[in-house]
Amino acid sequence: MSSGSRRASQFQQEKEEDVPQWIPGLGNDKPKPRTLGTSFFGYVPDAFCEKTPFLPSEKQAKEAGEEKVDQPEEEVAAPGSEHSDQADSIDTSGQRDMDASSDEGVVTEEVVVPRRVRARDAEPWDAHTPDTVDGSAQNRLLIKGGRVVNDDMMQDADVYIEDGIIKQVGLNLHTPGGTRVVEAKGHLVIPGGIDTHTHMQLPFMGTFAVDDFYTGTRAALAGGTTMIMDFALPQRGESLVEAYHRWRTWADAKVCCDYALHVGVTWWSDKVGEEMQELTEENGINSFKMFMAYKDTWQLGDEDLLKSFKRCKEIGALAQVHAENGDIIKENSRKMLALGITGPEGHEMCRSEEVEAEATNRACVLANQVGCPLYIVHVMSKSAADVVSSKRKQGHIVFGEPIAASLGTNGTHYWHKCWRHAAAHVMGPPLRPDPDTPRYLMDLLANGDLQTTGTDNCTFSASQKALGKDDFTKIPNGVNGVEDRMSVIWEKGVVSGKMDPCRFVAVTSTNAAKVFNIYPKKGRIAVGSDADIVVWNPHATRVISAKTHHQAVDFNIFEGMEVHGIADYVICHGRVVVEEGEVRAVSGMGKFVPTPSHCPHVYGRVQERDRTNAPCKVERAPYDGPVTQLNGQGRVPVQESGIMAANQETFYTRGPTRSGGVNLHDSSFHVSGWQRDDDVRPRTSIRLVSPHSGTSLQGIFW
Ligand code: URP
Ligand code: ZN
Ligand code: ZN
Repeated sequence: MSSGSRRASQFQQEKEEDVPQWIPGLGNDKPKPRTLGTSFFGYVPDAFCEKTPFLPSEKQAKEAGEEKVDQPEEEVAAPGSEHSDQADSIDTSGQRDMDASSDEGVVTEEVVVPRRVRARDAEPWDAHTPDTVDGSAQNRLLIKGGRVVNDDMMQDADVYIEDGIIKQVGLNLHTPGGTRVVEAKGHLVIPGGIDTHTHMQLPFMGTFAVDDFYTGTRAALAGGTTMIMDFALPQRGESLVEAYHRWRTWADAKVCCDYALHVGVTWWSDKVGEEMQELTEENGINSFKMFMAYKDTWQLGDEDLLKSFKRCKEIGALAQVHAENGDIIKENSRKMLALGITGPEGHEMCRSEEVEAEATNRACVLANQVGCPLYIVHVMSKSAADVVSSKRKQGHIVFGEPIAASLGTNGTHYWHKCWRHAAAHVMGPPLRPDPDTPRYLMDLLANGDLQTTGTDNCTFSASQKALGKDDFTKIPNGVNGVEDRMSVIWEKGVVSGKMDPCRFVAVTSTNAAKVFNIYPKKGRIAVGSDADIVVWNPHATRVISAKTHHQAVDFNIFEGMEVHGIADYVICHGRVVVEEGEVRAVSGMGKFVPTPSHCPHVYGRVQERDRTNAPCKVERAPYDGPVTQLNGQGRVPVQESGIMAANQETFYTRGPTRSGGVNLHDSSFHVSGWQRDDDVRPRTSIRLVSPHSGTSLQGIFW
């Protein structure tokens, strides 16, 4: 987004009485009381003194004088395999030529030529010597006059930053001379956004996502997101650790903002289980994603899902699932193509809401059975969201992540007459044709039934989407969102009155930091936290468009949407990377953020819960009565007629009921004339409990 396309000029410095009630007194000029101490939030004991904690291997490398580990000079090419010819299974590899044309079809839309992104949009920060930029110290910054918003409170305060860390939060701060000042009067000062779900340059369905770790993270910054969480996804049979290192190599060289990784468990073996442990202990991974869809490539069956969930629990990691029933999708895709439905509408029709809801429910049950906390990625439908919400009410430890797409648009676009437009919305699980879905998901996000927000940003341009022009199963799945998530959620969540700015901060940043165990380093504006901060203009508006966005993709699923809420300044590592809407980011300036295992926010309840829920046996005297003799096959011998042999000690042919009672489907007499209660002493009275009043009626005979 260039500054020209914004309507920031519309934003006036608000007078106190003009400011909406939820930000009383924002940016007023009244004299502020002088405060003692440096922070009204107090010191954050767990905040790190270094911006990024080092992994064991990195620490050694640093001590040995190396600058960075796992960052070879050359970019490693993504591996892939031949694209599958099977219409109903998805090739998750990334090799296929990308010259297919998309300009077929009766209805066409204007083709957007994406803005070309220069390799460097700003001078590298390192080129500046300290103390020389605009006469200010490069490493010292004061954000002045804004309203600081955290997930649990907001208050007028200045924020002083040094060397990438927040050093003071409060009023009338003492700051060293030469400190650069960012004026934030009339603005909200919020923690940088954390996008929990992206796929930059993902090798997928025969091609690669067009937004890579440079364009994708640069666009993230433009929209106020200072950290992304991407997925390292091994091919079936491939080492998880190798996939992790490949993604690190791709990302480290290019990222403009911080990033963490989730790792996919796309197949199962004992070796996979060992590698999961290695990744958590050595490589800063605390979350693993399992796919219940993508049959024949990444999909795991229930048995392997259970094994993965058990393993996650053993190593203190969070299990994530892509919840869709891949077997049903495969079957329905075949049916749809046989009916001649080859367009993008077929994509939605072969995976309706209940296909997502069934898998969501199954994942919750399987994870709960082994006591493993669960995180449902990309919640796309009302019914899947309802499952998450009701399982939480039942006490399951489960988190739900709607995405910008499911909160901001809907699946009616699959029926659009322009193929290119319809195909641009293809993603899995699909957007839902029920246009009320975004409102519903936003309500659940606002009230706490859903917790975090991602984007599943996985972009393919029209020519790539056109790989499936004659067969919807070959359209590369994925949409944009990383740049617009914050604005879309502000517009649909805050401007609509569903959530206040604190809840906005919670769902766009803080909750992610908590769930992935990087809080309060990330997700909070407090002393000791990383200086990843957005100076948010809640009043300015912009119109989202592929013509002006920073992403490399040539389509934007939010095209034409007018949104309030613009990131006027974005500060990442204490550096101003977006200034009045202009992005000044440098590839490689972001850092990998390790996510430690055994997150208290996720696992804090688990140990006690396991202890109190541990199954216990009933102590009782051993049975000393007769025992039926079984024949060799373990069956009770019966005569050919189906009636028991006369020498059988018992004639019960069915087991007792669950409560231990006699099964009423059994015969109560034997051919010998013996009845099953012959040996029961007759009672002189019965005790009858009235079904309505519960009164006990003693001594009445029927
Ligand atoms: O359509 C999608 N979601 N593409 C990315 C892969 C995934 O399933 O997350
Ligand atoms: Zn997925
Ligand atoms: Zn995804």
